[in-house]
Amino acid sequence: MSNTAIAIACDHGGFDLKQQLLGLLESKGLDILDLGTNSRDSVDYPEFGAAMANAIEQNKVSRGILICGSGIGISIAANRSPAVRAAVCHSGLSARLARQHNDANVLSLGARLIGVETAFDCVEEFLTTEFEGGRHQRRVDKLGSS
Ligand code: RB5
Repeated sequence: MSNTAIAIACDHGGFDLKQQLLGLLESKGLDILDLGTNSRDSVDYPEFGAAMANAIEQNKVSRGILICGSGIGISIAANRSPAVRAAVCHSGLSARLARQHNDANVLSLGARLIGVETAFDCVEEFLTTEFEGGRHQRRVDKLGSS
């Protein structure tokens, strides 16, 4: 990943994992944009998925990490923007494939479904795996991403 700016956002279901991932991202020296939420108080995931989409659309960051209970709702919210290709991942392999084949620019994690070590594996692969291009570029183009 060349651009070192990355955003992270979660709902209450993802708050604890976000705090753990912040430590990992900080240890890598990344420039982090924390879009909240900032406590375990109940919030609505669409707001945080939309905040991520805005940050990507406005080129504040090139990559993002989303976390909710399942990773699903917050990814659906972010994917409403054509600028976002958010992939829900449950393993390092799924995160690697999301980069290699889909050029995913947002990783979405389900804090209630995976453990912290698996989340770390996903982040590692998401940050270090390059898009393969070629036939995958043609398919990504057909997604109509902006
Ligand atoms: C919140 O309870 C939960 O519904 C949310 O974190 C997420 O899993 C939705 O997709």
